[in-house]
Amino acid sequence: MIATAIAHPNIAFIKYWGNRDARLRLPLTGSFSMTLAGLETRTRVQFDADFPVDRFALNGEEQQNESLARVSGFLDRVRELAGISLFARVESGNNFPTGAGVASSASAFAALALAASSAAGLEMTEPALSALARRGSGSACRSVPGGFAEWLPGSSDADSYAVQVAPPEYWDLVDLIVILHSGHKAIGSTEGHALAGTSPLNALRVAGAPERLIECRQALLGRDFERLARVVEADSHWMHAVMRTSSPPLFYWTPDTETVLWHVLTWRKQGRALCATVDAGPNVHVITTGAEKDWAEARLRALPGVLDVLTAKPGGGAKIVRI
Ligand code: PMV
Repeated sequence: MIATAIAHPNIAFIKYWGNRDARLRLPLTGSFSMTLAGLETRTRVQFDADFPVDRFALNGEEQQNESLARVSGFLDRVRELAGISLFARVESGNNFPTGAGVASSASAFAALALAASSAAGLEMTEPALSALARRGSGSACRSVPGGFAEWLPGSSDADSYAVQVAPPEYWDLVDLIVILHSGHKAIGSTEGHALAGTSPLNALRVAGAPERLIECRQALLGRDFERLARVVEADSHWMHAVMRTSSPPLFYWTPDTETVLWHVLTWRKQGRALCATVDAGPNVHVITTGAEKDWAEARLRALPGVLDVLTAKPGGGAKIVRI
């Protein structure tokens, strides 16, 4: 009972922030993302009658406490679905920095959902697998189908999952991930989601989300960069406005984040196809086109505080690999 799977992280064009049901990770709004090729989590799961407990190693380091408990809790859900009671050994590795706004939990739980369900002998449809991944980390449901994906918020555990809106090759977009800090974030998204409701702006963000989702989907399907840029930036600013006005407030940006955002906006005003979005960390995802990539990457690398720029094109969904 062994399986290995890989999955890519994703960058949200329209964000998921806040839950209707925190235990089931049912979101307050739908969300929309691009899966990121090249960056990946590879996870091997083995269930065995000889294992006395669950064990979990991340990037070669044995995990304890919360990190192990989160994986073990997720495996409980898989065991429940498969009707088994065996413990598992999970080995997972990322080829990109963990926990700094590159959404490692998304690729982590998409890969774990696929590897664990396969190792447990479950054959799941893509929506069911996406819903399972969501139980580990909400945004993970969008890494299951791949390409450009929309998470339909749904009304229950079974119908809250992501679907592919367009395949990876639909549009030659590029995410230039501007790394300003590669450590772990201070407040993780699980705790952050719980604070969304404390912001007086949250209701307004939630009320406007359906319209922004339509705008984003139409901009993508029409390959209209300017339209996409406006809604992607607006949605990111809405999320950070909610974060900053929560109690206690969540402030993820550094002065270098602000500098990158300012330059991206300025360059777009000068006619360049660029826009920016930021997750729960200081790093900036600059969305651009294949044609503008080299120009933009060279300029971004020259800005203060930029440690590195990772490049990701639209990627595929989670898949099983033979070692
Ligand atoms: O899946 P989580 O619980 O790590 O939440 C992800 C939250 C954001 O990355 C900030 C937004 C998103 O939609 O990916």
